[in-house]
Amino acid sequence: MACSKVYFLLVITFLGLFLNVDANLDPNYYSNTCPQALSIVKQGLEEAIANEARVGASLLRVHFHDCFVNGCDGSILLDNSATIQSEKQAAPNNNNSARGFEVVDQIKANLEYACPGIVSCADTLAIIARDAVVHYGGPTWEVRLGRRDSVTANRVGANMLIPAPFFNLNNLTSSFAAQGLSFNDMVALSGAHTVGFARCTNFRAHIENDSNIDTTLATSLQQICPKMGNDDALEPLDIQTPFVFDNKYYQNLVVQKGLLHSDQQLFNQNKADSLVLIYAVDQGKFFDDFVKGMIKMGNINPLTGSDGEIRCNCRKPNYS
Ligand code: HEM
Repeated sequence: MACSKVYFLLVITFLGLFLNVDANLDPNYYSNTCPQALSIVKQGLEEAIANEARVGASLLRVHFHDCFVNGCDGSILLDNSATIQSEKQAAPNNNNSARGFEVVDQIKANLEYACPGIVSCADTLAIIARDAVVHYGGPTWEVRLGRRDSVTANRVGANMLIPAPFFNLNNLTSSFAAQGLSFNDMVALSGAHTVGFARCTNFRAHIENDSNIDTTLATSLQQICPKMGNDDALEPLDIQTPFVFDNKYYQNLVVQKGLLHSDQQLFNQNKADSLVLIYAVDQGKFFDDFVKGMIKMGNINPLTGSDGEIRCNCRKPNYS
């Protein structure tokens, strides 16, 4: 490759990283146009979690899956239509794996009632993710706002860009690096698996084939998740406290009790071990790094200015 091209790519990459860091988002974005926005989201999420304790975890994951595909633009919320191949039907999301969409609908309806056409679906999801972490007892932060919504989805991207549970450490690292996220961000953001559940189909290979799993745990999980069948049986990602946002996820990894193959990759006699050990003993450090990672992830390629739109209904573009 010609040197000038390399230089050009470096400049573009630098600009991309710079934009990623800054992204022109602002915690006070709705202060004048919809001052109630944050409280409406919080109240809606609290009601939803009172109805189903897991749904906050599910929506934290939906925000992650949104940001990793064309940036945090609400594209994951779009339904299939004549013109849209939804991301919901992509492998990492289908069969009800990505869930909680009706909660976003309800919260968005409440926002539209109070401030029509003002608060984007992408921002709604980012606020929900923060409020979910706080609900379960995790850290808080100011959510940068001002993202607009996409008018298209990217199913191919969802299939390619979202990391899979069978990934090894190199795959995981590359997948996060492709989004401008560091190795440290990857290890810290994986701590989101301190809440929520996974289906048997996603951890069967780990409990059947891997040697880096506690044998008692593997044997007991095999009762629920046999070699064939029961694909949708759920098990907590953090076997100790699946509804508490704490550092027990890392403590589990140290004793080979990660549920997913990809989880246990973070403590497998490799360069992630030292960070996992730090998070396992220092919850404050985990919380600090998790917040930094969430803010960086939330800044991935937002649509701003006149790009995209503010969808009225998160499931479809305005003129469809
Ligand atoms: C490091 C790479 C990651 C991989 C390979 C991965 C993979 C998975 C898989 C396979 C599941 C279970 C899905 C199912 O069985 O239907 C899951 C659940 C979950 N993931 Fe991840 N994930 C990763 C990173 C993240 C990140 C960065 C976040 C958020 C910041 C996150 C949040 C969650 C949450 C909260 C759940 C539980 C959802 C629920 O109970 O509905 N994950 N993840």
